[in-house]
Amino acid sequence: MVRPMETLPLYIAGRFVNGAEPTQPVVNPATGEAIAHAARATRAETEAAISAAREAFDSGAWSGLTAMKRGQVLLEIARRLREQAQELARVETENMGKPIFEAEFDVADAATCFEYYGGLATKITGDVNPVPDEALSLTLKEPVGVCGQIIPWNYPLLMAAWKIAPALCAGCTVVLKPAETTPVTAIHLARILDSIPDLPKGVVNVLTGDGPEVGAMLAASERIDKVAFTGSTRTGRSILRAAADSNLKRVTLELGGKSPNIFFADAGWETAVEGAVFGVFVNQGEVCSAGSRILVERPIHDRFVAAIVEKARAIRLGDPSDRATRMGPLVTAAHRERVMGYVEQGKREGARLVLGGGKPNGSLAGGAYLEPTIFTGVDPGMAIAQEEIFGPVVAVIPFDGEAEAVRIANATPYGLAGAVWTRDIFRAFRVVRKLRAGIVWVNHMQPTYVEAPWGGMKMSGAGRELGRYGVENYLEVKQVHVNLNDQPMGWYA
Ligand code: NAI
Ligand code: MG
Repeated sequence: MVRPMETLPLYIAGRFVNGAEPTQPVVNPATGEAIAHAARATRAETEAAISAAREAFDSGAWSGLTAMKRGQVLLEIARRLREQAQELARVETENMGKPIFEAEFDVADAATCFEYYGGLATKITGDVNPVPDEALSLTLKEPVGVCGQIIPWNYPLLMAAWKIAPALCAGCTVVLKPAETTPVTAIHLARILDSIPDLPKGVVNVLTGDGPEVGAMLAASERIDKVAFTGSTRTGRSILRAAADSNLKRVTLELGGKSPNIFFADAGWETAVEGAVFGVFVNQGEVCSAGSRILVERPIHDRFVAAIVEKARAIRLGDPSDRATRMGPLVTAAHRERVMGYVEQGKREGARLVLGGGKPNGSLAGGAYLEPTIFTGVDPGMAIAQEEIFGPVVAVIPFDGEAEAVRIANATPYGLAGAVWTRDIFRAFRVVRKLRAGIVWVNHMQPTYVEAPWGGMKMSGAGRELGRYGVENYLEVKQVHVNLNDQPMGWYA
């Protein structure tokens, strides 16, 4: 359990150790007050964690267990997450600012993720390849090795689960680095892992610390076989570069997006209005797949804008620990400033601010709150229609007809997600097939399931997480040829 104003330890080689460096305060964004202090791992501490993961991998302590045993350990992690769900949701909300109502979903999803990969451990199989000649050609799947995993702050516990569960399923070992601002539930998860006797020491290590130091070391380490990253495109680039300049480690990236949420005139009205608002304002808009561009067919544009403005205005913005709250503060005051910079830019570029854009006063003045914000009259080329804002700010763009909708939808460097709303199933599938995005919803936006792959095209990343695809990124393929013919080839005769 995380105690008030605790100094969070590092978790290295199955031991909780206090960091050697001065700590960094962990702040509750709803109040601006410190709730804990986090260690900032030094180079030596980072090397120690990599060594522990390396040793745990090379000794076969984990990959050498039966798949059944590994699966059982993952199921046990899930069980303990569920047992401690209430406390985990509470501290997640306190650290990150998301509504408790959402944090409870996240903790349950994290447990589900461990359950899925617990079950999958015994279903990873190779192939028998139909080669000619008297031979048996096999494809074996083997763990890729030591994995550096770098995660963001928007779903702190859930992102840890998305990373750790498939890695352990595959037989890999891990050094996980949570985001600077949201380390609390990752350390809590480390305590859960530590309490499971069948999980060998050093299989999972958790290091809090700065991205450009600890994260960059993981990306550059010669002793790490793969890095899995979720976060900004800019950091994703630097990780790829570090991999290229070191040992060509495998890299999977889940980067940002500027996902289009496309509404045709025949869409079911109530569900569409709710889907437009939910698509961008859930989790304060701090979602990689946020539907941050709402594309509306011109005949319904004005009426649709009026309806989403009314719905968004009614969102309960407030204390995230209140179960009625649907939008909390942004993750930090600094992030709010960054998001507000985009609000100013939108105004300067000539877009029309029709809702929000400001900091709420009164009892919320002490937190990093920002009102739900809607711009109309947005030109697809404006910065607010091209760049990831990662906050509660949406650009509404009108379109005429299917071809224009698709053209605008695809006209950003990103390709993570998108959604199309129409009652015409033929049109829905035509649009689905033309969208350059890794995830497309029809008549919904945001549901995410561990059973189904997740990831982006174009600059939204490389590789897929979740589902069977998720574990493939933690496996190497080994081809084995077994000669069944005991005669010499006669090659030199
Ligand atoms: P970031 O990409 O800098 O941080 C994400 C993680 O990477 C953190 O754990 C951080 O410590 C680590 N990191 C930072 N610099 C690193 C480096 N040089 N080498 C290795 N690891 C490093 O993102 P940040 O600064 O928190 O947010 C900036 C923007 O990125 C957001 O406004 C948003 O647009 C986007 N973002 C996208 C996310 C997504 O889910 N795709 C999640 C978080 C941020
Ligand atoms: Mg950064």
